[in-house]
Amino acid sequence: TAPLRVALLGCGTVGGAVLRLVGEQAADLAARVGRPVEVAGVAVRRPDRHPEVPAELLTTDALGLVTRDDVDLVVEVIGGIEPARSLIQAAIEAGKSVVSANKALLAEDGVALHAAAAKAGVDLYYEASVAGAIPLLRPLRESLAGDQIRRVVGIVNGTTNYILSRMAETGAGFSEALAEATELGYAEADPTADVDGFDAAAKAAILASLAFHSAVTASDVHREGISAVTATDVARAAEIGCTVKLLAICERVGGPDGESVAVRVHPAMIPTGHPLAAVGGAFNAVFVEAEAAGQLMFYGQGAGGEPTASAVLGDLVAVARNRVAGAAGAGPTAYAELPTRPIAET
Ligand code: HSE
Repeated sequence: TAPLRVALLGCGTVGGAVLRLVGEQAADLAARVGRPVEVAGVAVRRPDRHPEVPAELLTTDALGLVTRDDVDLVVEVIGGIEPARSLIQAAIEAGKSVVSANKALLAEDGVALHAAAAKAGVDLYYEASVAGAIPLLRPLRESLAGDQIRRVVGIVNGTTNYILSRMAETGAGFSEALAEATELGYAEADPTADVDGFDAAAKAAILASLAFHSAVTASDVHREGISAVTATDVARAAEIGCTVKLLAICERVGGPDGESVAVRVHPAMIPTGHPLAAVGGAFNAVFVEAEAAGQLMFYGQGAGGEPTASAVLGDLVAVARNRVAGAAGAGPTAYAELPTRPIAET
């Protein structure tokens, strides 16, 4: 049978791991999908920086690649808003299903992208955009689709969790712990998105959108980072049996005009007995409370090339199976059930 052909946009830490895993697992993927899965091309900015990729696959023409007739599916691991947004839109309009790891884009434009995908009858999956390897979005979007989710509370940024954990373990100050996180490769060279909570806010917006079927964007999220947390704060918290964590909190809140959604990211003291207090290092964990399901906890590696690539490949198998079956997967996402309210009103 003819192979399904995948365009890979971006070949950094995550893209490189995706490319390697698709090659290594070719036989299993073919069996799981029902057709072989092959990489048709890899779009990068600087081909000379990718000696590991077969030269005939490399291209700088990403738009040309996603609209090529022999490409069936598109995997976007470039990150950031542009050119990722235009490329994904072009892919969807050309009838290709898309797998993305792009939290910034989904948190800003998820509604429009879902609408475009529904119109074109293609899939849009982005499990890797929140909490790396942890299966979380598909459970919210599919497994819990018949339930009513009340709250989603999580540690969704590995860098800040590493920093706060080190401060608690060693008594280090914020700058010292940040330097350590940078040295270990958790924090970016410019760690602002992590320490100021922008990364967690984008992830919180995606979680709230899926959990509450609402159009929540990153700008709707009240945000406070961890740069003002001192060694003294962490020590005082420990004295009263608490741990400081950067939490993303998404909840339904009642009001005189009915229910709405409130989303915030800020450092919080949690009792050491709470399951989230035990989440150390660069790990992520997300606590979900639903009416019928009760309490659920999702835990695992939230960052890194291989863990994130695992989530990308899971999505790739899902969209490839749908392509073989001639179907689209999770169906349209209803975004209008609950309005978003600014945190100040709660
Ligand atoms: N910088 C992010 C983190 C990477 O530390 O969690 C994963 O999104």
